[in-house]
Parts: sequence; C-alpha cells; structure tokens
Amino acid sequence: MKIKKVVIPVAGLATRMFPATKAVQKGMLPIFDRPILQYVIEEVIEAGIKDIILIVNEDYETIDKHFNKDIDYRIKNSNNVSNEYIESFKKILDCNINFIIQKEQKGLGDAILCAKEIVKDEDFCVALGDVIIDSNKKSVTSQLVDVYDKYQKTVVAVETVSEDKVSMYGILEWDKREDNIYNSVRLIEKPERSQTSSNLAMVGRYIVKNEIFDILSHQNPGKNGEIQFTDALNELSKKNELLGLNFDGKTYDVGNRLGYLIANVEFGLKDKTNSEKIKEYLKNLVSSDFRIGDDYEF
Ligand code: G1P
Repeated sequence: MKIKKVVIPVAGLATRMFPATKAVQKGMLPIFDRPILQYVIEEVIEAGIKDIILIVNEDYETIDKHFNKDIDYRIKNSNNVSNEYIESFKKILDCNINFIIQKEQKGLGDAILCAKEIVKDEDFCVALGDVIIDSNKKSVTSQLVDVYDKYQKTVVAVETVSEDKVSMYGILEWDKREDNIYNSVRLIEKPERSQTSSNLAMVGRYIVKNEIFDILSHQNPGKNGEIQFTDALNELSKKNELLGLNFDGKTYDVGNRLGYLIANVEFGLKDKTNSEKIKEYLKNLVSSDFRIGDDYEF
C-alpha cells in the first residue's frame, strides 16, 4: 500500500514556550526563515505524501491561513521575495490539508485517534509537529517509507540518546538488528533509567499500520493519565510487528527554548547567503573582546 496520508498532531498548548505561544501557535514560530510546521510538511511532501491531516486546537486560524491560502499577489511581486521561495511554497498549496479539532488534550494516542474517520482503512504516517529532522540524503519520512515498503510492518524512527535523556522519550527495546533496522520487543513511554537498559528513543516519526486505530480505541490511559501512542504501538511490538529505524539525519526538538534557539542558529548557518556572516558573528561573540550588547557591523 502506498503511504499517502500523514497525521500531524499540533493541538498542544505549548506551555514550555510560553509566553511566545500565548497568541501564536507553536508550529507557526519561525526557525530562521519559515515556521516549524512548514519544515515538517516539506519533509513529508518529499516522501510523496500530499494528504495532510493536522490535529489542532480551536486556535488554528493562522495555520490555515499559512498553509491553505494562496500567496498575496503583492508578496509574489515583491523584490524581497525570491522565486525559489514562491516555487517551493506552491508544492504546499498543491496538497490537500485538513484540520481536525481535538477538543480535550487527552494525550498523543487520543490525538491520532481523532484522524480515524479521515484516514479510513489506509496505513499512514505520523509526524510530530514539534520535531524537525534534517537529513542530507532522503528525508527521514522517505527512509521510513522505504523500510515499510520492504517489510510491510509498522516502523518508527529511533536514535540513540544519552542516559539522562531516556526518561524524556518513548524507548524501544529490541532483540535482533539488521544494519540500522531493529526488531522491537517492547516500547515504554518515558521510563525511569532503572526500568530499561535500552537508550533507543523514538523521535516523532512513524509509519503505522491501520490496525493501530483499533488498538487506540481500546487503549487505557497510561503515563501521566494520558492515552499514550507508545502503549498502542507496544501492542504491535508484542506481536513482532514493529521495527525501529535508526535513520540518517539530525533531530531538532524545537518545543523548548534551548532547542528552539539552537535550531535557529543551525538553520541560519545552513543558509548559503548568510552562513559566513553568521559564523563570523558567532566567532566574534564568543571571543574575549566582544560583549553581548556591543554593536556589530554586518
Ligand atoms: C512524545 C511521545 C514520545 C516521543 C516524543 C518525541 O512525547 O509520547 O514517545 O519519544 O514525543 O519527541 P512528548 O515529547 O510530546 O512528551
């Protein structure tokens, strides 16, 4: 089955980013030159996915405006806006973008279950809206789709995290591996370090078999009293039906202040036009004779 749909949960209140997110949705905060959510959507488009289902809270007007409305002709005609930006945005406007309101924040599993009616009986992708994954080769979603196509199983993106971070993620325990593909035997949501010896963390990209909806609809609340997506995925793991892909790419958790700032700096450094200037600025900033607040000439 070809993966055509993605579910992107962005209904959270983004309390870790308050007050920046009081009136602006977290997904709309910019990283260097575009909103967080645009990176995520561009990533899935690269994998051939054009049906985009956003799970939102009631305040999704700016998201709708950004992704669904045509670009104002004055912007299109402005000398400040390069053709490259306009052309790449057209790919987004070509997609079919739907919104589903999650009325109560009952957990990630509940958010995904909201998409059941619209996904129907297809297998689908899930991409968390507060994680950007940058890859030099294929996008992480494309890499996952390749594994799904080959094995016809649910596959989740994982990466190794340091011991002190294990309790911040859904963790995958495995028995066998073939190169960078792990056969999962158990998934645990945000375990204490003592609860697992694995440090393979799920980072927010998944290709899931449709049966997950059935599992989710019977899922009891788990960690923090929430319907956990990880617990539902663990049911597939128990049946030997779940793989982990240690993908090629770099993860940016942009849902907290430090991660957000780091991503801004790094995406700035990746930008051809500004890279050298930013590098020089950063070098000067950390040198002994330059103090924060000093004027800086570009
Ligand atoms: C969610 C998931 C967790 C996953 C993480 C990745 O947690 O529940 O399994 O590892 O995203 O960012 P959250 O960070 O939203 O609390």
